[in-house]
Amino acid sequence: MVNPHAIVGDIVELEVDAIVNAANNSLLGGGGVDGAIHRAAGPELLEACRTLGGCETGQAKITPGYRLPAKYVIHTVGPIWSGGQQGEPALLRDCYRNVLALASAHRILSIAFPAISTGAYGYPLEGATRIAVGEATDFVASHRMDVIFACFDETTKAVYEEELARL
Ligand code: APR
Repeated sequence: MVNPHAIVGDIVELEVDAIVNAANNSLLGGGGVDGAIHRAAGPELLEACRTLGGCETGQAKITPGYRLPAKYVIHTVGPIWSGGQQGEPALLRDCYRNVLALASAHRILSIAFPAISTGAYGYPLEGATRIAVGEATDFVASHRMDVIFACFDETTKAVYEEELARL
């Protein structure tokens, strides 16, 4: 199996050690993948998130996965796209780096990412995918971890496949 690799699917169903949540700064839930993860994990996830005191953009925090097949949820907050001149690329890079570092510290061996910031936060898919694939590829070169990109639709997966093929 190529590592990292991309699939099309619903991240909440994946039987991996950790899934990544594209959250907002409050960590108190939302729509998109955030809403799906909270619905699937159950109310204890929100209770746990309430104790975390929010999350800065680019940072990452970890909770149990509760009713999810995944043991952990790593919450991160991607940048809201505002043209690309407000530090968005660096902040998105921080999301991937901080999530992977936190996963490694928790001896996580398999992790699934959604396409952070490319939904409600409007980050252009190609640029976001280049960052996601670049960071994950660099990381797995020196760490034992299976990284999966859980794309929600074929369009997203095709962009990930194209980026992965460049490597
Ligand atoms: N599984 C995998 N991917 C999903 C799922 C799912 N169940 N649901 C949505 N996605 C995909 C979207 O199609 C998109 O490609 O996740 C990607 C990220 O989109 P959003 O969930 O909108 O996340 P983001 O763009 O980072 O915006 C975050 O939206 O939900 C709120 O609380 C969240 O305020 C925060 C903002």
